[in-house]
Amino acid sequence: MNLDRKTFLRRLSAGVVGLAAVGSVRGEQRATLVLPGYSERDPEPFWAAIRAQYLLTPGFAYLNTGGLGPAAGPVLDVFEKTSRRLQEKSETGYALFAEARKVLARFLGAEPAEISFVRNATEGNGIIAAGLALKAGDEVIFDNHAHPGGAFPWINQAKQRGVVVRMFEPSVAAAAENLARIVALITPRTRVVQVSHVTAPTGIVLPVVAIAKLCRERGIWFHIDGAQSAGMFPFELRAIGCDSFATSGHKWIGGPHETGVLFIRREKLDEVTPTIVGAYSSDQADLSMAMAFVAGTQRHEYGTRNAAAVVALVAAAETQERIGRERIAARGRAMVARVRAGIAVLPDVEILTPANSELSAAMIAFRTPRIAYDKLLGRLLGEHRLRCRPVSEQKLDAVRVSLHLCNGLDECDRLVAAMTAILKKT
Ligand SMILES: Cc1ncc(COP(=O)(O)O)c(C=O)c1O
Repeated sequence: MNLDRKTFLRRLSAGVVGLAAVGSVRGEQRATLVLPGYSERDPEPFWAAIRAQYLLTPGFAYLNTGGLGPAAGPVLDVFEKTSRRLQEKSETGYALFAEARKVLARFLGAEPAEISFVRNATEGNGIIAAGLALKAGDEVIFDNHAHPGGAFPWINQAKQRGVVVRMFEPSVAAAAENLARIVALITPRTRVVQVSHVTAPTGIVLPVVAIAKLCRERGIWFHIDGAQSAGMFPFELRAIGCDSFATSGHKWIGGPHETGVLFIRREKLDEVTPTIVGAYSSDQADLSMAMAFVAGTQRHEYGTRNAAAVVALVAAAETQERIGRERIAARGRAMVARVRAGIAVLPDVEILTPANSELSAAMIAFRTPRIAYDKLLGRLLGEHRLRCRPVSEQKLDAVRVSLHLCNGLDECDRLVAAMTAILKKT
């Protein structure tokens, strides 16, 4: 079957016509978060006003943004309004992606053409693992604290293509030691290094700038699983110098569920063969075999998407810019420091996350030999209404706490009080 050019263009033009038909969508796209002025001397009203915008049940402390970040009410308003507006004319809203690409590119320190909207970090990681031209025996190195969403795409390649996986244990001692552990695993067959920008189990920050330099010098592809970093602290992907990066929008950025971003460095774009290809991957108007891909990482977007979710992700990213990205990062670190100070003095508590600010940010994991991690998690929730995340990976048997915009100093204190009470009774 051959689609004639007119039919094809008519079909695809729905997005362009749609832009006019939904012309006011961009106007409704800005989240109406009400922010009081920030005072260095008394910042709490500022943070309280932000926190008040979340829909979280009062009295319930949600300390698991690293698992799934709640979206603030104004972001959800953008999502709902955009969705309704698109439904009124039954438009895909794909034309809105161009503007969204600009905002997320700015947010991540990239160029718009380097940004693709995916469904989550796992999808972005999978596109890289499946898309690079690897042969049996080629080696990939990644950290053994990788989340399954970062590790399984490679283990799948090991099963499908005979790629060899080598893992290193992230060090809590020094950034240089993490670099050294990667260097120690490099062989002439190493093709890819991937790291978690921030490790999921215990929140260790890995030295991505140094790793990027190492990989560039050795001609090795460097991919970052940034599911835990984007929105936790600011960084510039072009300046880091990685080849690719994937993140979820529904964690620290505070976008709606099923949002994610994949970055592929402009110069390296053609080294990743798209795994799923469709109408948005190529401008080609017929079904001939040429099928050249569109310029830019957007070739990985392939088919109809939920534009309202992408537009709301933009609103979430812009909200963070309004609050101040460095300010958010500092707040996360300050809350972690408060928890650390409180639990470090308790008997039999071991903190697994390094205190060194080069190696950690807005997450902290801890354990106690007095009570199994799953029981501790259950008691924190059941007795104290504190929702944390279990850390069963690598038999670490710990509890992880994420501290972000939806949290406050009172919740840090509640956690410390809860740990004190639990240890007293155990
Ligand atoms: C480092 C890392 N990578 C990937 C993922 C998977 O995220 P998603 O399910 O949004 O793809 C997570 C989730 O916690 C993660 O921490």
